[in-house]
Amino acid sequence: MTGLLGIENLTRVEIEAILDRARDFQPPEGEGFRRLDLLKGRTLVNLFFEASTRTRTSFELAAKRLGADAISIAAQSSSVSKGESLVDTLNTLAAMRPDAIIMRHSASGAPHFLQRHLAIPIINAGDGTHEHPTQALLDARTILDRGAKLEGLKVVIIGDIAHSRVARSNIYLLAKFGAQIVLCGPASLLPKELQELAPGITLTTNMTEAIQDAGVIMMLRVQLERQHEANFPAAEYFQFYGLRLDHLKHARPDVIVMHPGPINRGREISSEVADSQRSAILNQVENGISVRMAVLEKVLTQ
Ligand code: NCD
Repeated sequence: MTGLLGIENLTRVEIEAILDRARDFQPPEGEGFRRLDLLKGRTLVNLFFEASTRTRTSFELAAKRLGADAISIAAQSSSVSKGESLVDTLNTLAAMRPDAIIMRHSASGAPHFLQRHLAIPIINAGDGTHEHPTQALLDARTILDRGAKLEGLKVVIIGDIAHSRVARSNIYLLAKFGAQIVLCGPASLLPKELQELAPGITLTTNMTEAIQDAGVIMMLRVQLERQHEANFPAAEYFQFYGLRLDHLKHARPDVIVMHPGPINRGREISSEVADSQRSAILNQVENGISVRMAVLEKVLTQ
């Protein structure tokens, strides 16, 4: 039994199937989600070792909207805080026979390691700086919903790429669909090895140059919790890598501005851009539910 550990090993066809199914789950304009019975009687455990608002809530809502029971455990309030190891915590939860475990952990590869030891499927909700597969899927759904095609689309990812699992999953996905990927950020957050993630990636420290003719601009939060030294003077960050309205004139007129959240207004993105017509930030949040419904259905009914 395997769950969903990353985008890297999914095929384009598998990704397309999830994105198509997610569209079936999107509620019609102006209507709420309908509660379905597709996963009735199934149980999901959400185990989060790191902070989360969007991902945890939307996995829980996705499960409930498919008729499954879902419980969420924050590691701070579990026996992890009493010294239990990760493997023991997972074995304990697995002994209660949930149908899948959704987990977020600060160690890259933690869900992959556990999947090798457990018979129940694990869904990766973010592992360290490695992957965040459902984020890339919901980002792709959001881009497609705005009428763009991934093939040939210029997607610029700006910010703390070095520490971003969102960037990695998006790079894997976008490369499979032939998008033109540009990564931009201060040199200390833009290691050359990123180029090896997929063929044809461009790296640049110049934001204006990066944004030129972009169809999508994805902004990232500076993940101070993963930085062990001060990589750049924080006060200057917005000046060089914060997205302001005047930047958008260099992009395509129909550019889509995205951010996985949580956004830090005035640090990596100005309020004017975050709240503008070009921003798809809340569409991303909304799509998190339909995409996670599609993922849960795939994993639990395979
Ligand atoms: C991201 C994460 O946790 O990887 N948030 C999210 O899931 N939407 C990005 C971040 O924390 O900056």
